[in-house]
Order: sequence, then structure tokens, then C-alpha cells
Amino acid sequence: MAASSVFRPGLFNHKVAIVTGGGTGIGKAISAELLELGCSVVISSRKAERLEAAAQEMRQKIPPSSPACVTPVTCNIRKEDEVKDLISTVLKKYGRIDFLVNNGGGQFQSPAEYMSSKGWKAVIDTNLTGTFHCCQQVYAAWMKKHGGVIVNIIADMWRGFPGMAHTGAARAAVDNLTKTLAIEWAASGVRINSVAPGIIFSKTAMENYKELGPEIFKMSIPCSPAKRLGMPEEISSTVCFLLSPAATYISGASLRVDAGQSLYRSMWEIPDHSAWPEAPEGENQEALKDLLNPKSKL
Ligand SMILES: NC(=O)c1ccc[n+]([C@@H]2O[C@H](COP(=O)([O-])OP(=O)(O)OC[C@H]3O[C@@H](n4cnc5c(N)ncnc54)[C@H](OP(=O)(O)O)[C@@H]3O)[C@@H](O)[C@H]2O)c1
Repeated sequence: MAASSVFRPGLFNHKVAIVTGGGTGIGKAISAELLELGCSVVISSRKAERLEAAAQEMRQKIPPSSPACVTPVTCNIRKEDEVKDLISTVLKKYGRIDFLVNNGGGQFQSPAEYMSSKGWKAVIDTNLTGTFHCCQQVYAAWMKKHGGVIVNIIADMWRGFPGMAHTGAARAAVDNLTKTLAIEWAASGVRINSVAPGIIFSKTAMENYKELGPEIFKMSIPCSPAKRLGMPEEISSTVCFLLSPAATYISGASLRVDAGQSLYRSMWEIPDHSAWPEAPEGENQEALKDLLNPKSKL
């Protein structure tokens, strides 16, 4: 919550946004920037205490002249009924929903072979089905008639996601869902896009990975062409751009905010092995053998 928005003050005056996972990390930065720009924000996630503390902190930074206010509402996005309640609570309080930011989510590290079915389902239920619930309910209750803008936070899963197969599959599915909804809901004036962050550091993001957290974040620095980690505010500014009138002709897009990391190196190391099928025999194979094991000329 340190950075100041590059966008014009009052840009989002009298708009209303829901930001899932809005009390921590990336979601907190998005919520803070929206508030700074005059948007009222409902921050929503499972843990009431954490949400309330974040809301208190954000309230203190809203200038008295601003129409914006922040409201914490608990909701587990995995549960359709809780999502329905969230949307109707927001409509009762504010009478409109201009923006939905599907940021709430989580995953754990594990090679696919050791992932339990329960763990797999939990991540798919949150990161894919939870996002679907929020999109569907906000559309039915408000955006179908009034339009609006949705941004889905996904991930750098463009080359697969070794070590986190569940979230890779879920985020790739949300990328596709974004494209589908951009077409199905265009006639309602709904724009919907995704933002795919690289490795973004926050205390809460690190704590999610327990004792592995510090190492994961430290190890990923050399994998970034920027040679540093991203900050939540660097995702927030992109989300604000996509919500803003500067993006009125953008829908169905997935924007990578990763300093080019998705084009560069993977953290996953493949050990040396001889398990691959032999290459076909022939002159090229012979030439390759000579290249790798040159015969002595003496
Ligand atoms: N940090 C990165 O490098 C990175 C990269 C790519 C994508 N992402 C994604 O970006 C989003 C924000 O991550 P972050 O780095 O800011 O980590 P974070 O601080 O842990 O944020 C995750 C948020 O999601 C909420 N959440 C988790 N499960 C939920 C559920 N079932 N229902 C409602 N809310 C739920 C959490 O709040 P509660 O615990 O209170 O529910 C928390 O506020 C996540 O979806 C994350 O996977 C992060």
C-alpha cells in the first residue's frame, strides 16, 4: 500500500468493485489503488479478522473528500451459496457492481505424482470453479443488464506448471473461460480479461508455501529477466488499466505481467538421465557420436 497510483485522481469515483482475496498481497494492492482512485471496494475472502484489519488500514488512507469506502465481506468462493450471498450483500449496500476482480486463490507445491485427489480438487475448486462462480453470479445479478468489467488473475502457466500441476491446469482453464465469456457476454457490454503475473513477492504469498516459501521466492530471482521479483503494485496498475476507459476495446485478452519471465527460464530442473528412447541410427547419429566423442587423430 506504499505506492501511489499513476492514474488520475477520481478516475473511478462512484464506481463499485468486488476484489476477492482483497485483504492480502496482490488483492490488497489492487483494492488500495482502486480506493485511491475513488472506487468503493468490497474486499472478500474466508478469514474475517484479516479482512477487517486490512479494511481498517485502508480506511485510514482514504481522503475525507473521497466518495470511496471499503467493506469487508467474508465469502469462500468455492461455495456457490456464499458467492450468491456476497453479490446480494454488495447490491443491497451499494446498488451496483461495476468491477469484479477474481484474485482470490491458492495452491501448494507438489510434484503431480504425489498430489492427493483431495489436494487437486481443492485447488481446482478454488482457482477455477471459484472464479466461475463469481463471474456467473455477478453476471446474473447485475452485469447482464448493466454491463461491467471483470479481471481474472491467473499465472505464468504458458509452458505448463511443473511442481504445481493443479494450479497450472486451473489457470489455463480460466484463460480459456475468459475468452468464452468475452464472447458470450459481449452483448451485455461486459469486458473480461486476465492478468498473468510472474513471481510476485508479498509476505502472505511467501507464507502460503510454509517452510519452502523463502527458498522458492529467493530461487526464482535468477529466472526473471528483471533479476528481481515483482511487487503487488505492479499487478495492481495493470488491473486498474484494464478496468479503466483506457481499455474499452480490450476483451478476451490475457496480459502477462512478468518482465518476460514466461519467455525465459523455468525453475524446474530435469536431472541427467538415460530413460529417453534411443535416437534412430544412421549417418546423423554417427556424426553426433563423433561430435560428442571425437576419435583421437593420433
Ligand atoms: N504471488 C505470486 O507470485 C502469484 C503469481 C501468480 C498468481 N498468483 C495468484 O494471485 C492471487 C493473489 O495471490 P497473492 O500472491 O496476493 O497471495 P495471497 O496474499 O495469499 O492472496 C490469496 C488471497 O486469496 C484468498 N483466498 C484463498 N482461498 C480463498 C477462497 N476459497 N475463497 C475466497 N478467498 C480465498 C486469501 O484469503 P483467505 O485466506 O482469507 O481466504 C488471500 O487473501 C492468488 O490467486 C495467487 O494464486 C500469485
